[in-house]
Amino acid sequence: MKTVGVAILGLGVVGSGTYTILRDHREFYRRTQDIDLSVECVLEINKQKALALGIEENRICGDIAEVISNPAVDIVVEVIGGVEPARSFVLAALHSGKTVVTSNKELFCKHWHELEAAARRTNAGLYFEASCVGGVPIIRTLIDGMQANVIHSLTGIINGTTNYILTRMAREGAGYAEVLKDAQALGYAEANPSADVDGYDAAYKLSILSSLAFHTKVPLENVYREGISHIALQDIAYGDELGYVLKLLAIGKFDGHKCIEARVHPAFVRKDHPLAAVNDSFNAVYLQGDSVGDIMLYGRGAGALPTGSAIVSDVIYAATHGEAKYSGFKNTEHAEAGIRFVTDFKSRYYVRFTAKDRAGVLAKVAGILAKYNISIAELVQKDGSSESVPIILVTHETTELSVRAAVEKIAALDTVEQVDSVIRVEG
Ligand code: HSE
Repeated sequence: MKTVGVAILGLGVVGSGTYTILRDHREFYRRTQDIDLSVECVLEINKQKALALGIEENRICGDIAEVISNPAVDIVVEVIGGVEPARSFVLAALHSGKTVVTSNKELFCKHWHELEAAARRTNAGLYFEASCVGGVPIIRTLIDGMQANVIHSLTGIINGTTNYILTRMAREGAGYAEVLKDAQALGYAEANPSADVDGYDAAYKLSILSSLAFHTKVPLENVYREGISHIALQDIAYGDELGYVLKLLAIGKFDGHKCIEARVHPAFVRKDHPLAAVNDSFNAVYLQGDSVGDIMLYGRGAGALPTGSAIVSDVIYAATHGEAKYSGFKNTEHAEAGIRFVTDFKSRYYVRFTAKDRAGVLAKVAGILAKYNISIAELVQKDGSSESVPIILVTHETTELSVRAAVEKIAALDTVEQVDSVIRVEG
């Protein structure tokens, strides 16, 4: 039986989950995979953390050079997160010909081209299933399962923390700051919670997933991003009355040739849409392929064991496949020449504004919308004070730039106090 040596860089939530799986399933992998996965060393400055997991003291390293120079280490698992020092550690491992398995979406999204070039030079493996959508095998699906298809769209809930927060806000009316603390305690949230609530984490993942799905680099700079920190509880409640659930969606679209759309933002989806039922820290990705039709993958998008599951599956894949497989597209830093990124995308829109309760207000608003060729699908006036009332309208499909221009004009009306929120409606 082949013994394969593994090193784990970092024993945070994902590192600990990975170690636990490797330790507890060692015998199972011997039996089912005919390999012995041996954790040769861990790189962790907090020795107590390692000892608490049962790792022998002589396997705890404090310096990356010890890991790289250890001939028993074949596969380096990077679960430190962030760009540095993770990037230097991964490059050092690849330069020495060791295979790398990583969960680091920020590093991968920003430096994929550089890491892949380094891996190709030494024929080292480079695996990143755990970088996107936790334990859900979306990368393997895109690389191996959907190759027959032109994928025209990918719509996902790909951040567990924000989905957990939005679910609890909708269920309990809790404020997001309060629920964010619980998400941190459960090990879903990034070290800097802004990465989750401001949509960066989802944007990193969408950049990686769209590049694979559309066979061309979709750089982070071309992913439109909005987070959930400005979301008001009233909008979740009003949306519920209108038949919608609020989600942080990641949307990628491809015309099959040159036009790509990539955006992350909160959006209402109808309650009967499959993504509406994806709650708590669960993630899902809904794919549309030209031959297969619609596919949805669903599972835990964050947490120690689900993400550890993706890491260990990559470790097993690397240990049982001789030849490394790299991205099938031109993996450059920026987008390929000729690719056009659509920014004036189409959607429906929910707009809430506060207006004076007087004759003629709605006529003026309707006039502005008509000027921008925006058609109203629904309009609701809620109870307000004697002076001002909240008004909610939902448009038919229109374009982003028309809505932005119309909203600016509506906000400038002297009978409108303010435009409170603009939320896209998808699906
Ligand atoms: N913070 C991430 C999330 C962890 O909430 O989805 C998994 O990438």
